[in-house]
Amino acid sequence: MKILDLLQNWLRPDRLSGAAAQPTSLANQRNDKMKIAVIGTGNVGSGFATRLAASGHDVVTVGSSVAKGQDLADRIVAAGHAATAASLADAVAMSDVIALAIPYGVATGLVGKAALDGKIVIDLTNPVKEDFSGLSVGHTTSAAEEIAAAAPKARVVKGFNTIFAEIYTDGPELSGRAAPTFIASDDDEAKKVVSGLATDMGFDPVDAGGLTNARYIEPLAYLNIQFGYMLGHGTKVAPAWLSR
Ligand SMILES: NC(=O)c1ccc[n+]([C@@H]2O[C@H](COP(=O)([O-])OP(=O)(O)OC[C@H]3O[C@@H](n4cnc5c(N)ncnc54)[C@H](OP(=O)(O)O)[C@@H]3O)[C@@H](O)[C@H]2O)c1
Repeated sequence: MKILDLLQNWLRPDRLSGAAAQPTSLANQRNDKMKIAVIGTGNVGSGFATRLAASGHDVVTVGSSVAKGQDLADRIVAAGHAATAASLADAVAMSDVIALAIPYGVATGLVGKAALDGKIVIDLTNPVKEDFSGLSVGHTTSAAEEIAAAAPKARVVKGFNTIFAEIYTDGPELSGRAAPTFIASDDDEAKKVVSGLATDMGFDPVDAGGLTNARYIEPLAYLNIQFGYMLGHGTKVAPAWLSR
């Protein structure tokens, strides 16, 4: 089929007038208490883990050293929530869901060494170049797809990468509504679980299709970084998809 035919098919009035043309919020799903390993104790790891624990889930923290993981777990417990620290291997073995809150370059190496078969892996990374001049992967692939390639039996879900770390601490409400987070995966069940976690944490999970759509969600996060830092809007901003 020619590109023009494809586009015309997409833009059919019946497609655009129906519910199928609306971005789909997955916010009606909630999860029972789950055990979730959060890898990374930096800005995102600490905020994400704390908010997840505050929403009632059982968090296992993994740092670059056991001491760093323990320090975060201690802070979460001191705030009145459930958390323990563990090594990467132990955390992965005991958890249903593994969240990658580490640099993209670290993540691809790390997932190849962890026993992730059958585990739901949330990829929160953005493959931002060290000098912030752009993304290190894109167009024909994405960080999420590269992570999935490095851990082919993991159930990889892209999500939360357009959420600035400060929002976990300050609260997910922006402009009077729950901040959206775009959730993409080829595994519908895994997508539902991660969407449920987003809802539990106070976000609005939006179905963003299959994992290849991470190719577009990651540049969206980079645009968000431009708004936040280069264009001076600060980090209490997040992209949303509007509809009537
Ligand atoms: N910052 C944001 O607002 C934001 C928003 C959305 C997505 N992201 C993405 O989230 C990821 C983390 O960003 P960040 O801002 O949290 O960075 P960060 O503050 O620099 O934290 C990175 C964390 O990864 C840890 N780490 C490195 N290698 C590790 C390993 N082998 N095992 C376990 N932990 C390891 C670091 O440990 P050490 O402390 O020992 O170095 C540090 O705790 C990045 O991919 C980023 O693109 C960031």
